[in-house]
Amino acid sequence: MCGIIGIIGKNDDTVSHLIEGLRRLEYRGYDSTGIATLDNDAIARRRAEGKLQNLERLIKAEPIAGNIGIGHTRWATHGAPTVNNAHPHGNGKVALVHNGIIENFHELQKQLSGVHLESETDTEVVVHLISDYLDKGLPPEQAVHETLKQLKGAFALVILFRDFPDMLIGARKGSPLVVGYGGQDAEEYFFGSDALALAGLATHICYLEDGDWAVLKRDKIVIYDEAGTQIDRPIELSTISSALIGKGNHKHYMLKEIYEQPTVLGTVLSAMLDAARYHVQLPDLPIAPKNIEKITIIACGTASYAGMVGKYWIEQWAGIPVEVDIASEFRYRTPALPKQNGLCIIISQSGETMDTLEALRYAKQHGQKILAIVNVEKSTIDREADQSIYTRTGPEISVASTKAFTSQLVVIALLAQYLAQSLDKSVGGEKQPLELMRGFSELPSKLIEGLNSEEMIKTIARDLQEARDVIFLGRGKMFPIALEGALKLKEISYIHAEGYAAGELKHGPIALIDEYIKVVVLAPYDALFEKILSNMQEVISRNGKVILISDRQGIDAAKQQINTARDMELLSVIEVPSCHQDLAPILYSLPVQLLAYHTALIKGVDIDQPRNLAKSVTVE
Ligand code: F6R
Repeated sequence: MCGIIGIIGKNDDTVSHLIEGLRRLEYRGYDSTGIATLDNDAIARRRAEGKLQNLERLIKAEPIAGNIGIGHTRWATHGAPTVNNAHPHGNGKVALVHNGIIENFHELQKQLSGVHLESETDTEVVVHLISDYLDKGLPPEQAVHETLKQLKGAFALVILFRDFPDMLIGARKGSPLVVGYGGQDAEEYFFGSDALALAGLATHICYLEDGDWAVLKRDKIVIYDEAGTQIDRPIELSTISSALIGKGNHKHYMLKEIYEQPTVLGTVLSAMLDAARYHVQLPDLPIAPKNIEKITIIACGTASYAGMVGKYWIEQWAGIPVEVDIASEFRYRTPALPKQNGLCIIISQSGETMDTLEALRYAKQHGQKILAIVNVEKSTIDREADQSIYTRTGPEISVASTKAFTSQLVVIALLAQYLAQSLDKSVGGEKQPLELMRGFSELPSKLIEGLNSEEMIKTIARDLQEARDVIFLGRGKMFPIALEGALKLKEISYIHAEGYAAGELKHGPIALIDEYIKVVVLAPYDALFEKILSNMQEVISRNGKVILISDRQGIDAAKQQINTARDMELLSVIEVPSCHQDLAPILYSLPVQLLAYHTALIKGVDIDQPRNLAKSVTVE
């Protein structure tokens, strides 16, 4: 969750580069930030509660210098988000930054009797362990290696030493860490939680393997594996340009990423689909489609909702049984998995979500073949999967996922088509494949058309921002989009929202309906439309206000049935272009994203960095 960076440079711009790196890492947590450098032979630290701007203000008031340093942006686990608990932690001799959780820190604290700990964190103990080894005369490499052997849990660490001014040591176990190589004339070396942190700073990246630790010196980098054996890891050209991670002309990353969707989905489609020949281009699957006995889809949050829609598509088109699991539940419930030919699809934007990664490992240990649908190439999930399909969205910075979600949907829909075609399953009727292929091809232009509803959504958001509770309803493939709509609204506007399968309303949630509740109904004009219209009327007749999201035919049909002036007052509509009914979940994601965005905008909350959240959840 936390973001870490380390720089060993030649120039005086290390502090500004640390800040630049932290700015790119803020999406990983923003409870506190801090940096430490070697300034005039002493470790100088600056730490601040809250966002990076507070640290910047502090550094302006109390500047520090140095050409070697470390930085951290925190998502609090152990200890409140105070300055004392902010990283870097240090004791004058050693300072370090940490991402992850040291599970045995209580035990280790007991070994350090007599040492005064300043913070309530699980991290500070590591500072003292390393210092103790240094005091015993061990060189820093050995002091760190001996310390690492004692740590349990998942962590990435970067360590700065007062008495070794030309060295940083970084280590990873369970949490990611990359090494970066600077430009030709700058000759700087870096550690970063991910390649994104080093965009614009490092030209080349080396992804450390689990258990690796690396020593950065002014003229070289040496990497060791867990056993302490020197090892080579591939060094690759960094593909992330800093230009990709600006906000452009948009006020927030979230809006920029919403607007990028037509292009992003166009890129995915053109890479994976030859619509004229009904051909889906995929890397070889870890199991041949005809041999797949069962598919288990595992993910968290928004990505799990993409998986839920995937279940509808795969079962409908390819007839393969699919189970969808939330990653944090999966490995704790003794799932019944096929002994052979079980395919596990792991969906993750970041490729680093700890719950999802651990579920992947569990599934692998239990004989499943792993196919990842992942955005970040070279992420841990990408590297541990048997095969990956990339969602190709480019960096997604806003904490609330938008473009990653719709591209996950497109990828899983194309995968479902591929499975259906490989198994010679007809989607139903002769004309259907042609219409479906056209439906896929039209998605980018339909999304552009869908953006036209933004003005209407802004008006509705004005009303929505006053709601006490909001219910999202959908049926069939729109049910997961109802869940996603509710998640998006609550995470960025802090309004309580829940998604339900519309048919479930009468089994409990209908008790909530009164004049203070708003109900968003996702209802393309399809085979289930009449049924969801009845659910909508059940709400209206109890004075609930309805926001109907539908196409022209659906809106007309609804207005015909709701014909009293009183009932019409309770209804607002958002029009979505009509599209192939099986692909509606992709298109209907757009209005629910915009609705959440504009509601949050009116409420004046921090849209890109909502409270308590972090983009990449690398703790369990
Ligand atoms: C919500 C959101 C989260 C993520 C979830 C999984 O907007 O972004 O629910 O979808 O934390 O993250 P990844 O996809 O990185 O594994």
